Amino acid sequence: MLKIVVLVSGGGTNLQAIIDAIGAGTIRNAEIAAVISNKPNAYALTRAAENGIEARCISPKEYAGREEFARALLEAIGAYEPDLIVLAGYLVILPPALVSAYAGRIINIHPSLIPSFCGAGYYGLKVHEAVLARGCKVTGATVHFVDEGTDTGPILLQKAVEVKQGDTPEILQRRVMEEAEWKILPRSIDLIAAGKVSVIDGRAVIAD
Ligand code: GRF
Repeated sequence: MLKIVVLVSGGGTNLQAIIDAIGAGTIRNAEIAAVISNKPNAYALTRAAENGIEARCISPKEYAGREEFARALLEAIGAYEPDLIVLAGYLVILPPALVSAYAGRIINIHPSLIPSFCGAGYYGLKVHEAVLARGCKVTGATVHFVDEGTDTGPILLQKAVEVKQGDTPEILQRRVMEEAEWKILPRSIDLIAAGKVSVIDGRAVIAD
């Protein structure tokens, strides 16, 4: 059984997609041990609690500095002994100690087709604003492994989504969530739980 800890900051629709997929059996052999947010009022924490999943807030604001926050986050996550950490709309830069402690065992969902519209400053609606400003006809979402960079780790799954005439950033964000994020994140977890994913020469390989 793959034990997962999910890190969140916002509404938790990606977390909900994972919860629903486990319930529906489209994610097999995995369980969410805990959900941890940096925001005490993140609705994602409510979603976790409503589904009987331990929900905690570890806010950087509660700690004197980065080192203390990093130590607290590592300790909190370590208590669950996760096999996989899932960043589902988590907006805090991960402490390097966490990335190295869980090397190859952290995945993130990003709302664009990496390497486009990613890296520092590209998160949430800002991504879709940039896609529309550039006049792109196709966008999408990416699940990737997390390394020491920002949105730079090996790509695991991607799914393209059409940009339509008249899209606002909000309309486009919703379509990318519905048609891409909420599909490829659960699928990624199911593949990892089935032991079908490996990283060879910096690229994710999925066994058929
Ligand atoms: C979404 O824009 C998602 O693409 C990004 O975080 C935002 C919030 O997602 N990863 P959620 O509803 O909190 O899952």
